[in-house]
Amino acid sequence: MLVEKLKDYANGDVYPFHMPGHKRTGGNELPYEIDITEIDGFDNLHDPRGCLAELQENAAELFGARRAFALVNGSTVGILAATRAMTKDGDRVLIARNSHMAVYHAAELCRLNTEYILPDTLDGLGIFASISPASVEQMLKAHPDISLVVITSPTYEGVVLDVKSIADSCHRYGARLLVDEAHGAHFPFSDRFPQSAVPCGADAAVTSLHKTLPAMTQTALLLTNDDILARELQRQLSIFETSSPSYVLLASIDRCLTFLKDSKGAFDDYSRRLDRFHQAAKALRHLSIANDELLNAEKVFDFDSGKLCLFGNGCMSGKELMDTLRAEYHLELEMALGDYALAMTSVCDTDEGFDRLINALTMIDSRCKAADHPTNTTAYPLPQKRYTISEALNTDGEMCDIDHAEGKISREYVRAYPPGIPIIVPGEVIDREVLSRLRTLMASGNEIITDHSAFPLISIIG
Ligand SMILES: Cc1ncc(COP(=O)(O)O)c(C=O)c1O
Repeated sequence: MLVEKLKDYANGDVYPFHMPGHKRTGGNELPYEIDITEIDGFDNLHDPRGCLAELQENAAELFGARRAFALVNGSTVGILAATRAMTKDGDRVLIARNSHMAVYHAAELCRLNTEYILPDTLDGLGIFASISPASVEQMLKAHPDISLVVITSPTYEGVVLDVKSIADSCHRYGARLLVDEAHGAHFPFSDRFPQSAVPCGADAAVTSLHKTLPAMTQTALLLTNDDILARELQRQLSIFETSSPSYVLLASIDRCLTFLKDSKGAFDDYSRRLDRFHQAAKALRHLSIANDELLNAEKVFDFDSGKLCLFGNGCMSGKELMDTLRAEYHLELEMALGDYALAMTSVCDTDEGFDRLINALTMIDSRCKAADHPTNTTAYPLPQKRYTISEALNTDGEMCDIDHAEGKISREYVRAYPPGIPIIVPGEVIDREVLSRLRTLMASGNEIITDHSAFPLISIIG
């Protein structure tokens, strides 16, 4: 049974360098006792006036926004609701092409006409750089009817964008800015981290409490400074979010907010642990961990050093590194993609956890031979778009093996999960570069997921 499997994992010695940010501390029983519905005295998340209104006011204050909506369906529901609240059917929108699937699903549901910006890939590292404000401004100039810009900051790997300058450009051109800040919930609680999106001028931002803070899986916030927009956000949340929000999850949000109110000491300790870890990692000879070089990289505006991006540098793929850490050292990472593996840290990590990771990496590093793996760090071009996502999905299709798909138009999303960024989007041409990228990811052990679960068959427009 799942509950036994979960308890076995909890009772083992595997250390979690993955979500959720509470790192499995804070209780060990299933919380049936506090699992209720909207009975008298417990307010209604879809029309909050009592304890849930108070919870949301606390959240807004702590996260530096005028309004906060507590979410129990993750940042995903915030992205769907905010996109619909800020667009009309068929609008032209500008989307960072490295967005999470939720952003594409929002575009699909709202039948949006998407323009894309593909961020550069950082040379030698293979992760996305920051999108520059100038490239956003250029797109806004070329398409003055863009009503909404959606960017991701920080990225899964921790790369942060110049949200303030991008927000200024959007507002100059009459567009609004939604920031997917799912990985940046911890930003407001230490000067060590970059500034959050709403205080930088974003019209709305979503942030997953569960990813980097002590809160249960699925908990998130939707934030805005705009009271008029807030009314429409509330309406859209009533469409997309469950009508039976879990009080267990809402209580977990409340407990997280209470922790954050008095969290300076805990974040100072976390910051010290990160410094110690990054300092020790400088001794690695083959493997490396993104830190100072990213902060100084020309194409990176800012970086969250709480994300530990571990690079194999041609000695081993990210997947091999992640598998070795699990099998030999009982350390479970968040994900691996191409040449890197990602360890997620939080304020709940312990000295023991960081020590185990650096010791394991030091041992693996000492066994590394000279680089002989092909690296996967080259940039690839933006795929050509022939149809909007909803047009493609509403067209008849057929299944085709990827070996015969070159030049065809996709009718489905193709992605490695995580990170859940589509490599192919419905309506895009499956070109040689995209196929080569898919093959490289498969060769480095990444699983490819499609909507029809039939990969290597892909649904194409017939
Ligand atoms: C960048 C990004 N945005 C949004 C999401 C969706 O967040 P949630 O899982 O809280 O729904 C994820 C999930 O991993 C993500 O990585």
